[in-house]
Amino acid sequence: MAHTHSSRRSTMWARNVVSVLAFFALALALPSQNCEHKVKETIVPPRGWTIFGSAPPDHLIKLRIGLPQSNFDLLEEHLYAISDPYHDRYGAHLTTKEIHELVAPHPDSVGAVENWLASHGIADNDITRSSAGDWLTVTLPVNLVEKMLDTKYHIWHKNGEYIVRTTSYSLPKNVHDHVELVQPTTMFGTFKKLKSTIHSVSPITSQAESQKSQPFFDSTTGLTVDASCNTTITITCLQQIYNAVGYTPSANVGNSIGIAAYLEDFANRADLQTFFEDQVPAAAAANATFQFISVKDGLDSQDPDQAGAESALDTQFAFGLTFPVASTFFSTGGRPPFIPSVGTPTDTNEPYTDWLDFVLSHPNPPLSISTSYGDEEQTVPESFAKRACSEFAQLGARGVSLMFSSGDGGVGDGDPDPETTECITNDGLNRTQFIPGFPASCPFVTAVGGTILFPEQGVDFSGGGFSNYFERPSYQDAAVQAFLDKLAPGTYSGLFNPNGRAFPDVSAQSDFFRIFIAGQPFHIGGTSASSPAFAGFVALLNDARLRKGLPSLGFLNPLFYSKAAAGFNDITVGNNPGCGTPGFNATEGWDAVTGLGT
Ligand SMILES: *[C@@H]1O[C@H](CO)[C@@H](O)[C@H](O)[C@H]1NC(C)=O
Ligand SMILES: *[C@@H]1O[C@H](CO)[C@@H](O)[C@H](O)[C@H]1NC(C)=O
Ligand SMILES: *[C@@H]1O[C@H](CO)[C@@H](O)[C@H](O)[C@H]1NC(C)=O
Ligand SMILES: *[C@@H]1O[C@H](CO)[C@@H](O)[C@H](O)[C@H]1NC(C)=O
Repeated sequence: MAHTHSSRRSTMWARNVVSVLAFFALALALPSQNCEHKVKETIVPPRGWTIFGSAPPDHLIKLRIGLPQSNFDLLEEHLYAISDPYHDRYGAHLTTKEIHELVAPHPDSVGAVENWLASHGIADNDITRSSAGDWLTVTLPVNLVEKMLDTKYHIWHKNGEYIVRTTSYSLPKNVHDHVELVQPTTMFGTFKKLKSTIHSVSPITSQAESQKSQPFFDSTTGLTVDASCNTTITITCLQQIYNAVGYTPSANVGNSIGIAAYLEDFANRADLQTFFEDQVPAAAAANATFQFISVKDGLDSQDPDQAGAESALDTQFAFGLTFPVASTFFSTGGRPPFIPSVGTPTDTNEPYTDWLDFVLSHPNPPLSISTSYGDEEQTVPESFAKRACSEFAQLGARGVSLMFSSGDGGVGDGDPDPETTECITNDGLNRTQFIPGFPASCPFVTAVGGTILFPEQGVDFSGGGFSNYFERPSYQDAAVQAFLDKLAPGTYSGLFNPNGRAFPDVSAQSDFFRIFIAGQPFHIGGTSASSPAFAGFVALLNDARLRKGLPSLGFLNPLFYSKAAAGFNDITVGNNPGCGTPGFNATEGWDAVTGLGT
């Protein structure tokens, strides 16, 4: 626990209050009462992290100070109006300038924070500002940050990873309300790629697979799907299962699709070309590729042996489904390795913030973006989760649809056995509880769960459940309440928050995707597969709209839970075990395994 300046000062006073002079000393001390610190945030360190040692005083921290976004409520109001298909303003997306005006901090906040930084000798030109002015960034040594935040940083250690963090920090009283959050402080969450299964190199050649092919007619959906799609998912399978056979989008209507990747993961262009030769001949003939954007030194080594499975999966399926739509791959540099005995590189990079800074100030972000990274909601400090979520809302207001994979552990850790479950709260009480994932739990993104086989069923690893941070948004009230009403009284009582934002919103096929890594075919699965697949179909829907001169779909959920609900294949078979339980059941209507369906 951090000590506050006020408690230190009061011990000093005990020594000094011996004479009448004390009265004058008190009077003189009054102005500096402004420097008294008040705790801003305290957390229990997430499980598994232990203290390795003190942070070196000269270790550099890239400190990010988030100022309150003065009119976020108004932004939210606009977002819901333009995303509601029954509203006059549906599709009237906001401009970057309009959004910046809504999220710009109040001048009083800017003044208070700038004065505080100046009082620690930080010059104005050492401060970097986000385009809306709502984030200030400054690189400082640990010993100065400790003084400013009245805290103590340590090197924390988990599974070979070292980070410099604290479990509590404070702000001067006169700055306290003018700052929403400061990081890196309490943020221990890491980026996890969401994938459950990567099978080894497929022993089946594509020739052998096509020999097995035979059409299967499903009378419920009226669709004909190749029998091979039960064991191998290709672009053709997805077009068949989701009724897009023969649909070719245009390259010339301003449509676009993007993949966000983090850390060392990057996509190999030669593998994409091999995939196209295997599954999308038109793209192969065109030698189609994607635009690469490096954010904060994100890697793009084309060394095939270092290319990531996640990026291969994301680019091959999202771009394969949408060729010739303009495609972008963002690689965002991550937390640099911190090796306590070797050096003191800058310790930085909360998940998503660097990418958000970049894309929020981009004049033309892709209209459909998939991200297959996430972590346990409880390892992300609530202040950080809320801020990142409000920035996802800003992208929605610009007309961008954001897909996130819902997680690969069912209602938590994917473990149906109560003896071995690891679904334990981080609050120091070690209660057993379902573990929702973030960003899937943010109400301003579209969380994508997983299915398997055709006719489709919910897959057992499909992440689903209820947020402990975000309340249920009104757009899903009716659908989620209907699901809760069907549960037997007392079902999983105390294990989940029935008033929380419920996810996933939708789902898509999620296993046996045939991809290429270093020239070799692999099968890969996880909600990591369903999210880029779903994003691909959103791009096809955008194509249909843009051709008619209509705006892009933007934030999808209010549309999906109302006018478009009937467009989904309702998935009613399957459940998602975890936390020592069989999890929830796929049911008619929305459910916490497959959402509204596929
Ligand atoms: C997929 O397998 C299921 C049984 O596991 C079967 O009922 C279904 O017909 C198969 N689908 C296809 C497309 O062959
Ligand atoms: C295909 O594109 C790559 C760059 O992505 C380029 O190096 C290569 O020469 C191109 N091949 C053909 C046949 O155009
Ligand atoms: C919770 O678990 C942690 C780590 O296993 C342990 O150190 C702590 O004492 C436990 N707390 C309680 C209240 O059981
Ligand atoms: C799921 O369905 C099974 C079989 O109908 C039932 O026994 C079980 O209680 C259901 N679980 C939940 C959480 O509703």
